[in-house]
Amino acid sequence: MKVKETAIPGNHNLMPDDRTGKSALSRVDGRLKVTGKAKYSAEYNVKDLVYGVMVGSSVTKGTIKSIDTKKAENAPGVLSVLTYLNAPKIPGYQADNPSPKGPLKIFYNNQVYFNGQPIALVVADTFERALFASTLVTATYDTEAHQTNLLTNLDKGVSTRREDKDFVKGQANAWQSAPVKVDAEYIIPTEVHNPMELHAIIARWDAGDKVSVYTKTQGVKSSQRSIAQAFKLPPDNVQVTAPFVGGAFGSALRTWPHEIAAVLASKVVGKPVKLVLSRADMFTSVGYRPFTWQKVSLGAGADGKLTGITHEATGQSSVYEDFTEGVVNISQLMYACPNINTRYRLVSLNVNTPTPMRGPGEATGAFALESAMDELSYALNIDPIELRMRNYAETDPSNNKPYSSKFLAEAYKIGAEKIGWTERSQKPGTILQNGWHIGYGMAAGMFGAHRSSSTVTAKMQADGTLVLQTAVTDIGPGTGTAMASVATGVMDIPADKIKIVLGDSSLPPSPTQGGSQIAATVGSAVHDACTELKEKFKSMAGNTDPADYIKILKQQGLDHLEVTTTSKSGPEQGKYSMYSWSVHFMRVLVHPATGVVKIDKAISVADAGQILSPKTARSQMIGGTIMGIGMALMEEAVIDHRYGRLVNNNFADYHVPVQADIPQVEAYFVNKADNILNPIGAKGMGEIATIGVAAAVANAVYNATGKRVRELPITPDKLL
Ligand code: MOS
Repeated sequence: MKVKETAIPGNHNLMPDDRTGKSALSRVDGRLKVTGKAKYSAEYNVKDLVYGVMVGSSVTKGTIKSIDTKKAENAPGVLSVLTYLNAPKIPGYQADNPSPKGPLKIFYNNQVYFNGQPIALVVADTFERALFASTLVTATYDTEAHQTNLLTNLDKGVSTRREDKDFVKGQANAWQSAPVKVDAEYIIPTEVHNPMELHAIIARWDAGDKVSVYTKTQGVKSSQRSIAQAFKLPPDNVQVTAPFVGGAFGSALRTWPHEIAAVLASKVVGKPVKLVLSRADMFTSVGYRPFTWQKVSLGAGADGKLTGITHEATGQSSVYEDFTEGVVNISQLMYACPNINTRYRLVSLNVNTPTPMRGPGEATGAFALESAMDELSYALNIDPIELRMRNYAETDPSNNKPYSSKFLAEAYKIGAEKIGWTERSQKPGTILQNGWHIGYGMAAGMFGAHRSSSTVTAKMQADGTLVLQTAVTDIGPGTGTAMASVATGVMDIPADKIKIVLGDSSLPPSPTQGGSQIAATVGSAVHDACTELKEKFKSMAGNTDPADYIKILKQQGLDHLEVTTTSKSGPEQGKYSMYSWSVHFMRVLVHPATGVVKIDKAISVADAGQILSPKTARSQMIGGTIMGIGMALMEEAVIDHRYGRLVNNNFADYHVPVQADIPQVEAYFVNKADNILNPIGAKGMGEIATIGVAAAVANAVYNATGKRVRELPITPDKLL
């Protein structure tokens, strides 16, 4: 296969942007962020601010028998201690349909579903006083036997929704009769998003029925809807502001009980309330990637062609709410195979509800499928890339639809060259240098290339500044920068003449930032709004250069010209399968005596369509690779099942990669436009940056040592 490499150099300050022919934009809000001028939710100076601290349940299952709040109420500076006994009823809770399952209702009754569940909120005039008083709240409980261990409850797995129904294409379990087989179980532990910025909210009632919040959220419009629903307010009475978000990875996709508690407390005390979760709270209050058991069985002929794929998974959720994710979906779609069957089950445990975490479902599923493919490559003695090419899907194996675009083969080629794949030995454990085993591994990823509806206002001002407004949040990937990059291309004006206004619920609507859809969705709306604005200028230009916006405005006696455009997907959605693709390559060093694994080099290559903003895209891709390395080697939230309580809910014991753990990571893009998906040719990349990384590391560790680790994280004890 011969392809022209159009990858963007991995580490280069003067990246070209082939859309504009100019050098790539730097992050438009980078200066604000590094100088501390960007304000995050906890940082607003609101007059008369008071502070809330949550108190969590110390038992894992049961009912509250009594809560003693007297000492806390009498402590200095305390304004209120809210519990289920005294908190005003939240009107939206009462109106909810009485279905037994649903989001956790705070201060609703005496039921305890998990350890750390909020049972009280202390509000005081300073944070320190609230924190001190929170230690004075005591409760007694009637406890019941709890279950927090998925592995001892696998037999309780149930199918929860129609979407979870078993998938069968061709014959089920066809792998069993294949000449070459792999049949293995894989486990991932609970992982917690742990963005650097703690979840925080400042809530203030402006009038009897109007509330303003600064809150950490991935979607100001969805936060507005949720808070309005809870307090039975018209949505316009709820103002949500979140122009900067310090990472989220899925943890801020929904409105959590602590946010409702802060809004409620502000009403009770008649003052604005600030509530910042502690790092320990972050482990029990804002979701996580759930502990998941999987079994993948592959059958192939001696030619390496897959004849059967079977993928089973069992995940966990809370007892009060079903959280499901597409763990097995990747096996329905990734490889051309006549016989595929998958099954997904859920076990309810006494834990808080999980929530999507970067690459939800697929990051978990890809660890199992792509590890199993690696195992099959050794069973067949076929190079792992060659094995994937022999089973390359040219159309979607699950429904035979054509792809809107798929350049995964090109990504394999780029990645193999950049990692130096020819240096790899097909026989594991054979390369030893300076006392370290060296291994090479690779694994692929995919995620739906979504596009939904976005409304953007594009306004040209008399001074030549273009203002772009929409109610999207930028949680870090560089949404504003991509918007500016699209706009400079259409309007042909320099980026420093563009002002991006985001993260405010009063702006024109855009979706929540999640599911890798924002660049394609909002980018397309920016494209369409700017194109329309430019047409308007053209029609007014007369003898003037239509790109001389200032002159035209002056001629027409206008102080600005603006358009508001809604842009969304169309009939192409039903006709094509639309995915982004990635491949990750790792070179690892494994120390034979200590079992220490070091990543020596990491290469990630994406087919994410047309890259809109090369610098921020590269940064996002590298971030996703690092997150996957954490998943592979370090991250694990550990519960002591005797007590149902987390034992490592802090950054000393819950390990995430630090600078010294991460080598040179290079990101490359095939960078070919998907002209079917949207007018700018972009596909998402937030999820594919992480999906497949953990398997690539595990596969490299096997290549280095001959030891197959099927349970993450790959800690030294598992290699000795
Ligand atoms: Mo996400 S898990 O796309 O916020």
